[in-house]
Amino acid sequence: MVRREGEGGVFRFSSTASMAPSPRLLLFLLLLAWLCCVFVAAQTTDTLRQGESLSGAATLVSSPEAVFEAGFFAPDPKQPSRQYFGVWYHGISRRTYVWVANRASAAASAAPSVTLTNTGELRVLDGTAANGTAAAPPPPLLWSSNTSSLAAPQGGYKAVLRDTGSLEVCSDDGVLLWDSFWHPTDTILSGMRITLQAPGRGPKERMLFTSWASDTDPSPGRYALGLDPSGSGQAYIWKDGNVTYWRSGQWNGVNFIGIPWRPLYMSGFAPSHDQALGGTYYTYTATNTSLQRFIVLPNGTDICYMVKKSSQDWETVWLQPSNECEYYAACGPNAKCTALQDGKAKCTCLKGFQPKLQDQWNAGNWSQGCIRNPPLGCQINQTGDGFLPIGNIKWPDFSYWVSTVGDETGCKSACLNNCSCGAYVYTGTTGCLAWGDELIDMSELQTGTYTLNLKLPASELPGTHYPIWRIATIVSGVVLFVLAACLVLWWKRGRNIKDAIHRSWRSSTWSQQNSAMLDISQSICFDDEVEDGKSHELKVYPLDRIRAATNNFSDSNKLGEGGFGPVYMGTLPGGEEVAVKRLCRNSGQGLEEFKNEVILIAKLQHRNLVRLLGCCIQRDEKILVYEYMPNKSLDAFLFNPEKQGLLDWRKRFDIIEGIARGLLYLHRDSRLRVVHRDLKASNILLDADMHPKISDFGMARMFGGDQNQFNTNRVVGTFGYMSPEYAMEGIFSVKSDVYSFGVLLLEIITGKRAVSFHYHQDSLNIAGYAWRQWNEDKAAELIDPLIRPSCSVRQVLRCIHIALLCVQDHADERPDIYAVILMLSSDSNLPNPRPPTLMLRGREIESSKSSDKDQSHSIGTVSMTQLHGR
Ligand SMILES: *[C@@H]1O[C@H](CO)[C@@H](O)[C@H](O)[C@H]1NC(C)=O
Ligand SMILES: *[C@@H]1O[C@H](CO)[C@@H](O)[C@H](O)[C@H]1NC(C)=O
Ligand SMILES: *[C@@H]1O[C@H](CO)[C@@H](O)[C@H](O)[C@H]1NC(C)=O
Ligand SMILES: *[C@@H]1O[C@H](CO)[C@@H](O)[C@H](O)[C@H]1NC(C)=O
Ligand SMILES: *[C@@H]1O[C@H](CO)[C@@H](O)[C@H](O)[C@H]1NC(C)=O
Ligand SMILES: *[C@@H]1O[C@H](CO)[C@@H](O)[C@H](O)[C@H]1NC(C)=O
Ligand SMILES: *[C@@H]1O[C@H](CO)[C@@H](O)[C@H](O)[C@H]1NC(C)=O
Ligand SMILES: *[C@@H]1O[C@H](CO)[C@@H](O)[C@H](O)[C@H]1NC(C)=O
Repeated sequence: MVRREGEGGVFRFSSTASMAPSPRLLLFLLLLAWLCCVFVAAQTTDTLRQGESLSGAATLVSSPEAVFEAGFFAPDPKQPSRQYFGVWYHGISRRTYVWVANRASAAASAAPSVTLTNTGELRVLDGTAANGTAAAPPPPLLWSSNTSSLAAPQGGYKAVLRDTGSLEVCSDDGVLLWDSFWHPTDTILSGMRITLQAPGRGPKERMLFTSWASDTDPSPGRYALGLDPSGSGQAYIWKDGNVTYWRSGQWNGVNFIGIPWRPLYMSGFAPSHDQALGGTYYTYTATNTSLQRFIVLPNGTDICYMVKKSSQDWETVWLQPSNECEYYAACGPNAKCTALQDGKAKCTCLKGFQPKLQDQWNAGNWSQGCIRNPPLGCQINQTGDGFLPIGNIKWPDFSYWVSTVGDETGCKSACLNNCSCGAYVYTGTTGCLAWGDELIDMSELQTGTYTLNLKLPASELPGTHYPIWRIATIVSGVVLFVLAACLVLWWKRGRNIKDAIHRSWRSSTWSQQNSAMLDISQSICFDDEVEDGKSHELKVYPLDRIRAATNNFSDSNKLGEGGFGPVYMGTLPGGEEVAVKRLCRNSGQGLEEFKNEVILIAKLQHRNLVRLLGCCIQRDEKILVYEYMPNKSLDAFLFNPEKQGLLDWRKRFDIIEGIARGLLYLHRDSRLRVVHRDLKASNILLDADMHPKISDFGMARMFGGDQNQFNTNRVVGTFGYMSPEYAMEGIFSVKSDVYSFGVLLLEIITGKRAVSFHYHQDSLNIAGYAWRQWNEDKAAELIDPLIRPSCSVRQVLRCIHIALLCVQDHADERPDIYAVILMLSSDSNLPNPRPPTLMLRGREIESSKSSDKDQSHSIGTVSMTQLHGR
């Protein structure tokens, strides 16, 4: 209390002191008031209304965050009269311009202005427009948004500067007329769409990010970044309009393969598709929103900057080209570029090629590249060609997409059967890409699993075509040596050799007996982790019994071929029917390890998992014995025209729920936390009551993939079901299973196979097609006609929505399986799915003439009808 009075005293004292103001203080107060006024005046709005204009030092400031500011600026201190209207970051000490309107024509007068006409056209004028009826001639037009031809709506227009950095002209009722994001300068900001063709009505225009001419001159410079006009979905930087300078590489479903920089894609670029915008486009979303930008520098470098919080200055996050190999076609055709430590390029001809001009090549002029030598077999006569996989390589330019092919074998033979095909690539997300006979712009990548299969004549392939005389020499040499050694041994040891042989035979039978001991019909009992409370035992069967049960693995008993080996139907002596899975031999695991795995897997017990009854491990054979499912697998019903009808919506929904519960058990509730990695319709078995049971779980474990491992070299899985990150980079998690579940869900609803999905020319996969239908409010058309009578459309649409969430490109955006189950059983609101990557569109028109290629790269007025033609 006392203290407070004391404070009050101090206050009173100071106020009494101000009772007699000194002239100085008065001056100060006046100054303060003036500053205040100026501040209020400078506190301009974010809006320019119809008929208003802006000039001098007045600016627009975006609201509510005041991130950007728009107004006139003179970038070159030596030429203060050269003024431009543009947008820059507000409150960052180093002036950073993100957009310039009249970049092509700077103001010459001292007082340029920008105005919004009554027809909604934004104009930059070289002077201030005279008011009303003034007789003075209008000042020259420096730039216009060219939107005046459009009919004026009810109410007025306004131009608003947003916190994203976009300057928008819209009508009062909110209809967007024009947006500076549609006509960028040199900067990519968060929220921008990078499209081939600029959005907006009016004349067609390419979207290009064109560099400034120099650091102080915003007029269009020599370099421009844009998307490939022929629709490959790649980004390029061109120099002087038609010389390709840099290439991003193909979009593989997760990233651009030439930019293997992961943080970029975590939020970064997301592809979408819109025919009206010229096909594939990318939306850029920065994690740290506005304070991150990409820019094409006057020297052609594509650079990403982010504001450093501490110093409020720009920090380079990433830039390309960053070494000589990143310049387009640094090594010419058919050569691979390897970047050395100092960023210099080292070029090597691909195997089967030699420098076109040896002298120049040796002198370090690589521009002419390499040519084939020897020629392909198919070019001379019909002798065989083959493929050499080349790992970690930026795939060359000018790929075309073979749309009719759905698997690796088909892709390979498509390339083999076309003599002008020089290489191919097949992945789960890109499908089959092929190249012509000239491979341009390949460089070695540090990361990624990008393998190119290069076509070569048989003589150039490793491991084939040894001359017969050489083989004969080697073989006879070995035989002679062995004979000589035996002779010497026999000479030295005489009779002892007989004993030795006898001994070794004995030891081998001993080890056989030893391993047979494993097979004496024994059981291993578990009493934990059992769902139904009963304990379960795993039987170990002798091989003879398995052979007898399956008629010695006869073809007539074969039920199918799984990813890990064939499955046979067997009848045990007691009459019990079982399914016998004979694993292929190269699991790369020791016996003991394998047995432990089996025991672990056998402990996974759930109503929706196929029960493992026992196993047989003998010599090379590794066999798993499962309960037999009389109704076989889901695909046998779903895709069989005769049986499809048996699955009404009720049954299908039960199956969906069952699979989800089985998966939940694998992912979460079981002690092992198993990622299935090959979930698909043929791995869902149906029991007599049509209850689904997941089979083949734990296989990935047995085949050497550690469940806790995040990355694997061996990608098991099936095309169409594999998530992008797994197919491309071998990264798997429970979310990869969720992706497969989403695909499965779509298959169950549509009654169509994911793999055979070529519904719309633009969509590679079922996920893309479903998203499009959903987005266009036509999802109901996806529903299998056979279930329409029996289904609740609302429920099916909800399932489609859930499936779309499961097949999101980014693993983080997919729900986990527990959330999926909640979604299936509730009526909660669901988030909107982002569009999945529809496909990587290759060039369909492959031109072998280089002049055509150059044309397709030229910038300027490109005939857009060509693009619509597909
Ligand atoms: C322009 O005209 C408006 C009204 O039409 C008026 O309020 C304003 O003062 C005029 N400005 C100048 C610079 O003449
Ligand atoms: C507006 O149209 C003129 C003439 O057609 C053209 O020169 C100018 O580049 C266009 N401006 C914009 C921003 O498109
Ligand atoms: C690029 O365009 C310019 C001018 O249009 C032309 O002179 C030049 O030959 C072109 N270059 C190529 C490689 O086509
Ligand atoms: C966002 O910015 C903060 C601070 O500058 C930084 O620590 C963080 O890594 C950034 N996030 C991303 C994804 O770049
Ligand atoms: C272009 O400029 C940037 C920034 O000044 C620099 O980092 C880059 O190396 C330059 N690139 C070339 C090709 O000179
Ligand atoms: C490299 O060779 C090409 C033609 O073979 C020639 O036009 C070019 O000038 C050469 N470049 C250099 C740097 O010598
Ligand atoms: C095909 O051409 C190769 C190389 O010229 C030759 O060695 C081979 O014998 C020919 N094969 C046939 C079937 O003509
Ligand atoms: C063969 O390859 C060329 C170029 O590589 C391509 O243009 C052509 O369409 C292919 N032919 C067939 C039948 O696929």
